[in-house]
Amino acid sequence: MSGQQFESMNIQWYPGHMTKARRMIEENLKQVDAVCEILDARIPYSSRNPDIDRLASGKPRLVILNRCDLADPALTSRWNTFFKNQGFAVLETDAKSGRGIGGFAPAIRSLLREKLKEYEDKGQVGRTLRVMILGIPNVGKSTFINKVAGRKAAVAGDKPGVTRGRQWISIGNGLDLLDTPGILWPKFDSQEVGELLAVTNAIKADILDRETLGANFMLRLAAHYPQAVRERYRIEPDVQAGGFALLEQAARKRGFLIQGGGADLERMANTLLKEYHEGKLGKLTLENPDDRALDP
Ligand code: G4P
Repeated sequence: MSGQQFESMNIQWYPGHMTKARRMIEENLKQVDAVCEILDARIPYSSRNPDIDRLASGKPRLVILNRCDLADPALTSRWNTFFKNQGFAVLETDAKSGRGIGGFAPAIRSLLREKLKEYEDKGQVGRTLRVMILGIPNVGKSTFINKVAGRKAAVAGDKPGVTRGRQWISIGNGLDLLDTPGILWPKFDSQEVGELLAVTNAIKADILDRETLGANFMLRLAAHYPQAVRERYRIEPDVQAGGFALLEQAARKRGFLIQGGGADLERMANTLLKEYHEGKLGKLTLENPDDRALDP
């Protein structure tokens, strides 16, 4: 993708409601005791907006590594340590099945124990704690809130970028959640970040050319998870061959051909992205804390 194309992707992804969301976050921050940021455990760097450090400065923070069911457990554990070292509380969840959700209230209480003590000293025993839930589109905010509230509290949307009005959700245990509209915006500081957001469905993948996205993704998998490529697509994950060649080999293995006998790269790219989304390639994380600095 050329710089110019990447630029236009940026512009498409900064619609007015993102600016509005940011303003709402800033306005509502005064009312909360803590900020809970939900990340995709497969791309903890790219699914986070570095502006949150400025936006939420001074607030105790909980980082949730969601979609752990799809992420490499060894890398999730490394990211967990990484965020803890930054001073955040960390919780690993699979909001879809509910795994890890039970740790939310205890994590918040532990994070805010000094604040609770301050409230108690002022005679406000049992005061409700308020937590703002933030995250980029499609990271699992609604699913998480529904699970943690134990009922259909927030409307889960399947469209990236859908904004919702502000709502307080009482989840019991003396905790209220503010779903503000809850939407942070990802930060495209490189083409790579854009691609990782696209392959994890945080942004509409059709913003990018599907074949290129699929080829680049195949190459990334061949480099980092060669066994998954070998097993799923029955090809040799030779990185030197290049992403398009690997995509073509996989297409031929699957019998995805176009008229005249050429490989149907678009179909193979779509299949690869769909199968990754469904977890059919295994638990694959796409970023590790060593190559990624949060605040470069
Ligand atoms: P949002 O509010 O942040 O925009 O996200 P939402 O909760 O709507 O979740 C987006 C999709 O991600 C939903 O799937 C949801 O089921 C799924 N999801 C959320 N948390 C997890 C998780 O921990 N693990 C897995 N595997 N999926 C999770 P959907 O809209 O039904 O589509 P699909 O992504 O399942 O195809």
